[in-house]
Amino acid sequence: MSAHAAPRKRVTLASLAAKKDAGDPIVMVTAYDHPSAQIVEEAGVDMVLVGDSAAMTVLGYESTVPVTVDEMLMLTKAVRRGLTVPLLVGDLPFGSYEASDELAITTAQRFIKEAGCDLVKIERGGATVDRARALVRAGIPVVGHVGLTPQTATALGGYRAQGRTADAALAVIDDALALQDAGCSLLVVEAVPSEVTAALVPLLDIPVIGIGAGADADGQVLVFHDLLGLYDGGAAKFVKRYAELRDSAVAGVSEYAAEVRGGVYPGVEHGYAMPADEAARLRELLAGR
Ligand code: KIV
Repeated sequence: MSAHAAPRKRVTLASLAAKKDAGDPIVMVTAYDHPSAQIVEEAGVDMVLVGDSAAMTVLGYESTVPVTVDEMLMLTKAVRRGLTVPLLVGDLPFGSYEASDELAITTAQRFIKEAGCDLVKIERGGATVDRARALVRAGIPVVGHVGLTPQTATALGGYRAQGRTADAALAVIDDALALQDAGCSLLVVEAVPSEVTAALVPLLDIPVIGIGAGADADGQVLVFHDLLGLYDGGAAKFVKRYAELRDSAVAGVSEYAAEVRGGVYPGVEHGYAMPADEAARLRELLAGR
């Protein structure tokens, strides 16, 4: 920030609602640790999600399913320490909220109290609508998530777009309306045809954040590692890569390795020096042993 730039005001649910009303797109991105939090804060995003995509992006699991509450809390606390302005959303992992309202409240309270989240996100309609209602009654702001819900991707037939028929689209829209009715503050809609989002947004008062859901959402979210090209392998169709950081990182570490092996690094300028008289005395002391 330049010396004269006014500090940005903290994002609030009210300021997000105002953005929706003004047709001003909301920017959300994931982050999983302290440096990524500092980067997205400096980039000026509105909301940060510590997604359970962390399971794959930073913990090396094959899917989001195995990640635990304790693993998510550790990552979320690190992100909290790097953020001031954007709203922070914690993602309740698979198995940590579905079984009962009590379980959902107990888990969500940990994300609010221990990790400093402003909101928590839970996936699916169905029984999740009851969990959302219970969380909102307990004073916890909730983000719903419909369309492709990775925690239950197997039941949905894999990581594929949802709502591609009129009936399936209606089911996504009904889940979204039920989550709004339960008191959700925002909704993430993932991997649905643009027509579904275009039909859904005018039906909802709460902001809709899309990912692979077209341009009609009130805002967009992308995974940090996807948009920065920080992983090996292919990405979903909806991902746009704004940088190729993995290539730069591999090039940087390879050059370091080559310089160490070639005796180029460290140079004299990277070392500490002893005063000449002390170095001479050390040699004398060693010689006298
Ligand atoms: O876990 C995650 O990163 C998410 C986003 C893709 C919305 O749920």
